[in-house]
Amino acid sequence: MKHTKASALVLAIAVSLMAAAKDKPLYLDTTKPLEERVEDALSRMTTADKIKIIHAQSKFCSSGVPSLGIPELWTTDGPHGIRPEVKWDEWHQAGWTNDSCVAFPALTCLAATWNPEMAHLYGVSIGEEARFRGKDVLLGPGCNIYRTPLNGRNFEYLGEDPYLAGEMVSEYVRGVQENGVAACVKHYALNNNEHWRSNTNVIVDDRALYEIYLPAFKAAVQKGGAWAIMGAYNLYDNQHLCHNDRLLNKILKGEWGFDGAVISDWGGVHDTREAITNGMDLEFGTWTDGLHEGASNAYDSYYLALPYLELINKGEFGTDELDDKARRVLRLMMRTAMDSSKGLGEMCSPAHYEAARRIGDEGIVLLRNEGGILPLGGDKSMKILVVGENALKKMTVGGGSSSLKAQREISPIDGLRAAAEGMATIDFARGYVGDITGSYNGVVTGQNLEDNRSPRELIDEAVAKAADADCVIFIGGLNKSDGQDAEGCDRTTYALPYGQDDVITALAKANPNLVVVNISGNAVAMPWADKVPAIVQAWFIGSEAGNAIADVIFGKVNPSGKLPFSFPVKLEDVGAHSFGTEGYPGIKRDGVDLWDINYKEGVLVGYRWLDTKKIKPRFAFGHGLSYTDFKLGKLTADRTEMDADGNITLSIDVTNTGSRPGAEVVQLYISENKPVVLRPAKELKGFRKVALQPGETKTVTFTITKEALSYFDADAHRWVAKPGQFTAHAGTASDDIRSSLRFKLR
Ligand code: GLC
Repeated sequence: MKHTKASALVLAIAVSLMAAAKDKPLYLDTTKPLEERVEDALSRMTTADKIKIIHAQSKFCSSGVPSLGIPELWTTDGPHGIRPEVKWDEWHQAGWTNDSCVAFPALTCLAATWNPEMAHLYGVSIGEEARFRGKDVLLGPGCNIYRTPLNGRNFEYLGEDPYLAGEMVSEYVRGVQENGVAACVKHYALNNNEHWRSNTNVIVDDRALYEIYLPAFKAAVQKGGAWAIMGAYNLYDNQHLCHNDRLLNKILKGEWGFDGAVISDWGGVHDTREAITNGMDLEFGTWTDGLHEGASNAYDSYYLALPYLELINKGEFGTDELDDKARRVLRLMMRTAMDSSKGLGEMCSPAHYEAARRIGDEGIVLLRNEGGILPLGGDKSMKILVVGENALKKMTVGGGSSSLKAQREISPIDGLRAAAEGMATIDFARGYVGDITGSYNGVVTGQNLEDNRSPRELIDEAVAKAADADCVIFIGGLNKSDGQDAEGCDRTTYALPYGQDDVITALAKANPNLVVVNISGNAVAMPWADKVPAIVQAWFIGSEAGNAIADVIFGKVNPSGKLPFSFPVKLEDVGAHSFGTEGYPGIKRDGVDLWDINYKEGVLVGYRWLDTKKIKPRFAFGHGLSYTDFKLGKLTADRTEMDADGNITLSIDVTNTGSRPGAEVVQLYISENKPVVLRPAKELKGFRKVALQPGETKTVTFTITKEALSYFDADAHRWVAKPGQFTAHAGTASDDIRSSLRFKLR
């Protein structure tokens, strides 16, 4: 009897579950194909519902369809960590007490690792923090190409080479999206400086567009599978990038097959009709009178809100464009907010701090180490003097939308002191006073950097202490203040600010054992470089800054970073600055609030310019030293000729000939021997980071296809590789080629 009752109960439960499952609408059934779910949801939505989901309803979220149980979509900055919660309709932080985050290293540091595994680790980690905070779209990473060292936002990007940037951004995107969080890759496209960013029209030829400025975005879409792209503020071909027919419809969605959503930069939409027809899918941050004049719902004033509905109701537009936008936003929702299988994420975990430190360790670049002054340590009586404001100053607050409320930030001096425990004594001298502020949108560093002494007094103190020290470490560079490494404005000089050159020069005279640690997201002038035996490029490394810098300085970590952009000797050596104001920052049009900037250097950006013009940089793209030594063997190939549809496999041995483990980045550059068009002297087409024990040798191979030999033929509008002679160059920097080999394309 009992069994019968039990089985009846089980049956009843099964039937009710099946009924419930049967009643669950298809669009909510995650076992069903994505496109079927999208179409099912769309079919149940009114025109007003579709309008509601294609524009913001608050500063960082857009509406769902409450009546259908379709959730809101929450976005968050930024590329280096999850922004603190802001008030519904403000930039200012909301003052929550549970929204501190791990500040991961700036993306220049990630690029400097030349290690796609670090990019994937980065993406997974920051995606977990976003997921834990209930965010569906991460407004990052940025991958705009480094065209000028004056660009205030280069610290958020991945350097001057499209291939390196593409390899790194696509892995970051994959990592983020494994959490059911969309990466929103930005700022598409041609947003290569901040000066007049919202009203600058970029003039660029198609070769440079396709060969330099688009490839990283294309990799993010086609290799990384990005679910969202952010339209940039600037204009191209006189159309704003947030509603640019060629860049959004023809190239991104047409040629590349992007099926995700185009999200505007905040305030990047300026016209309803263009936004309807030119590829804008989700409008954020628009400034409307309603926002400040108390209209019932100011967000209804957005260009893609009631103004759009009005044009439909008047019959000027049908709903085809609206359905496409709604489909893309629904697809984005179903990949994120509506993905019931997504993980829970985690926040401020030991794993995330470990990831931040590893990326910092691997990204720091040893630029110079004359006489092997580094690593320090071993001598308990060693007296070290640390000089410079950047040894103290917290760098995670400020710089624009990437600013963070970090749960912790280890300053360089704190990291050095912790690491030197029992090994050396560390004294400090300010050296210079830069920017003593430390707040952004209500987040404050809490530091009091006030110091009213004169530059003379500060230098005199530092010099006096330096004379008495065994070693001096100057820690300076840039910071996140306007006019430095910050969004919304550019640097006005290539030189270090705050009189740092004078301090460094004085210290070099006072003590020959001088190490300069430059903290920046940009190249800077280093007129004193030959007088300083050791120079380290340490980026904005975030929460683990001090620990990572100390790891390298004291040799716990053997540096393996390589520069993701060139350090020219002077600004005039840069292509973008070789054509007057037309080349940068642009020329104002008469009578309108618009500027034109002309990328007259074309494809010759970064080392492409320096190599081709035979200009020696201070430090070259791809440069970075180690505490051990590496030897590269002879570059060999499996054939001397290749067909257009074939490939060629190139191999080279790399050996650690030193006495400690380390990692080298073998770089492969390709040049065409007699091109029929202007081509750079050589271009990066492969790289591999190889860890080696002392005495160990590994063989690195690269398989090259026609794609790596091609240039973009603007007239034919296609990639072309002309039959003829090419040369492969293998080396450890763009100015340190160890072996080259000719081959022929039939
Ligand atoms: C900013 C930035 C963009 C950021 C957005 C939201 O203006 O350009 O990178 O994600 O607005 O803060």
